[in-house]
Amino acid sequence: MFSFKSTLCAAAATALAFAPQVLATRPFGHYGPEGAVLFLNGFHFVSGHSDQEVSANHYCVIVRDDMLQCVIYNTATTPAHLAGIEYIISRSAFETLDYEERQLWHSHSYEITSGYLIEPNLPDSVDHTIMKDVLVETYGKTFHTWRYDQQNATYPIGIPELMMGYTGDDQITPDFVTQRDQMFGVNTTAIRESRSDIPAQEIVAGADSWKYGYVLEVGLINKTSSTEFPPKKNSVLIR
Ligand SMILES: *[C@@H]1O[C@H](CO)[C@@H](O)[C@H](O)[C@H]1NC(C)=O
Ligand SMILES: *[C@@H]1O[C@H](CO)[C@@H](O)[C@H](O)[C@H]1NC(C)=O
Ligand SMILES: *[C@@H]1O[C@H](CO)[C@@H](O)[C@H](O)[C@H]1NC(C)=O
Repeated sequence: MFSFKSTLCAAAATALAFAPQVLATRPFGHYGPEGAVLFLNGFHFVSGHSDQEVSANHYCVIVRDDMLQCVIYNTATTPAHLAGIEYIISRSAFETLDYEERQLWHSHSYEITSGYLIEPNLPDSVDHTIMKDVLVETYGKTFHTWRYDQQNATYPIGIPELMMGYTGDDQITPDFVTQRDQMFGVNTTAIRESRSDIPAQEIVAGADSWKYGYVLEVGLINKTSSTEFPPKKNSVLIR
């Protein structure tokens, strides 16, 4: 039975057995806010804009056995901007969603087998277990509130944007990965090789919607209407 909690605990136990001093000095959450259990770095691109690549630092906490939630910081600026959020759910949870809803989500299979998604500073054995037993079959939904095209702005201008994940070779700019590797002192090629035993997953229909030939983007709706208080008894709240 799939479980973030039991797998993460098992991974931690494995690490403790083999390298107690490593885990003691670098426990889950060491790099993030109180209660964070995972620190991940990976790549997103803005839905509809394959040239808009972002290196995203995720600080994730466990919500339930089938869901993590992450705050994301963009590594492009110092200090790093709070860039957005990502929800990560299990495959079985994802399969329960409506087809339209699924189109807002991206798969993680390739992000993991490619070596793009990393857990800087975790012991290799722990990283491998979490990637193989937990994250490879998950799906993520991510909105960035600090827009790519306003990366250099002083303030977070504009509306949030939907982000997507990479699904194959020859999509991301290789130099962008190299820069990330230098930032964290890792080697994506070597990580990819070390994950060769992790099978690529069959992607549930609807995820990675850009592959179907259309793009989903967030827009601001400005309606000709006025807000009245108290609300009218029969007024319908728009979701
Ligand atoms: C932000 O500034 C950097 C450094 O000048 C530049 O390389 C980059 O293209 C800028 N980003 C955007 C989205 O304008
Ligand atoms: C990264 O790892 C690959 C495969 O192990 C190796 O061929 C390559 O030289 C390494 N690159 C760097 C920059 O260390
Ligand atoms: C929304 O529409 C109103 C009326 O047309 C306009 O005054 C206002 O500036 C618009 N706001 C935005 C954010 O476009």
